[in-house]
Amino acid sequence: MPDSTPRAGARHRPTILVTGATGNLGRHVADRLDARGVRARRLVRRDAGPRPEPGAGTVVGDLTDRAAVRAALAGVDAVFLIWPLLEAAARGLVAELAAAGPRVVYVSSSAVDDRAARQSDPIAQAHADMEALLGGAGVRPVVLRSDTLASNARGWAPQIRAGNVVAGPDVAPTAVVDERDVADAAVAVLLADPDRSGSGRAADGPHVLTGPEVLSRADQVDRLGAALGRPLRFRPLPAGLARSRMLADGRPAPLVEALITAAARRPASDRTTDHVERLTGRPAGTFAQWAADHAAEFTAQDDLAQDDLAQDDLAQDDLAQGDPGQGGRGTGGRRRGGTR
Ligand SMILES: NC(=O)c1ccc[n+]([C@@H]2O[C@H](COP(=O)([O-])OP(=O)(O)OC[C@H]3O[C@@H](n4cnc5c(N)ncnc54)[C@H](OP(=O)(O)O)[C@@H]3O)[C@@H](O)[C@H]2O)c1
Repeated sequence: MPDSTPRAGARHRPTILVTGATGNLGRHVADRLDARGVRARRLVRRDAGPRPEPGAGTVVGDLTDRAAVRAALAGVDAVFLIWPLLEAAARGLVAELAAAGPRVVYVSSSAVDDRAARQSDPIAQAHADMEALLGGAGVRPVVLRSDTLASNARGWAPQIRAGNVVAGPDVAPTAVVDERDVADAAVAVLLADPDRSGSGRAADGPHVLTGPEVLSRADQVDRLGAALGRPLRFRPLPAGLARSRMLADGRPAPLVEALITAAARRPASDRTTDHVERLTGRPAGTFAQWAADHAAEFTAQDDLAQDDLAQDDLAQDDLAQGDPGQGGRGTGGRRRGGTR
């Protein structure tokens, strides 16, 4: 793939805005850009205080705050865009993107079905709506439709530390993808030369990013058990119980309903693609490898804040949801102590 990573003597050193930069996916993207010598500007909601900034600094702001988005976009060549919100509050952000005109790489969901008039659930619908909104505003993003991220399994860590049973709502099996592969694919597209043919062209995509095998929740728990050397098993949780747990956990009701609906209605998919390999030049990793790489997170007792991890697995699917309007929590539990 064409590569516009700046080299010695290059005149222009691009600046790339990374949204969701504290999240499972975004932080890998920002770190990878830093490692490539690209100026990564992180958009974060909370200022975490002074820290070494190898890239183009940190901008504090919310994706729904138009002025903050405008400031973050100043001088930016490209944007790694996530949209973790259910609410139809994206118009200001999209208008700012259209006005500023950077290249945009948007992380959508593999659950989006182009043939459907309405998507299977509110989460897939939110992604489809965002894709349409961007296109309608003339932004023409490169769309990466990601399958379920392996990092969602981090939400099981408290249960796995406490015992051998993981209880959670069952969802249709799907080709779980390593978030590091999605980050690599995103970086490849962000750094591709937009003036040359290849995957970085705005007209390309959507790219459907999957892992190499379709896995049920039970399969994932089984592979985690293998990585940990313990006989873990998955116990499906009825929707009612899953709902009450998530509500008791302080999640906004609309998000809880969206997650329950997604679990119930998301159709089974046996789709695997080679799009990770096409974009990155190497095959997507297995969940078993992800589990081996992250085994310590499921055993360590000290460095992971329990409250930040006390989420069940469903609550992390596909829509990394925060709800600033209601003071809601993000899907949490994904960001600390990672070895990735
Ligand atoms: N997880 C999946 O299986 C999956 C599958 C397909 C697509 N996706 C999409 O991929 C994206 C990233 O997933 P992830 O697992 O990395 O999510 P994550 O770990 O939950 O991270 C979400 C990020 O978004 C930030 N954020 C939330 N609300 C925000 C707001 N209003 N303004 C600015 N930033 C906000 C969070 O910041 P704080 O640290 O401040 O909370 C965090 O950095 C999501 O948009 C999701 O829809 C996910």
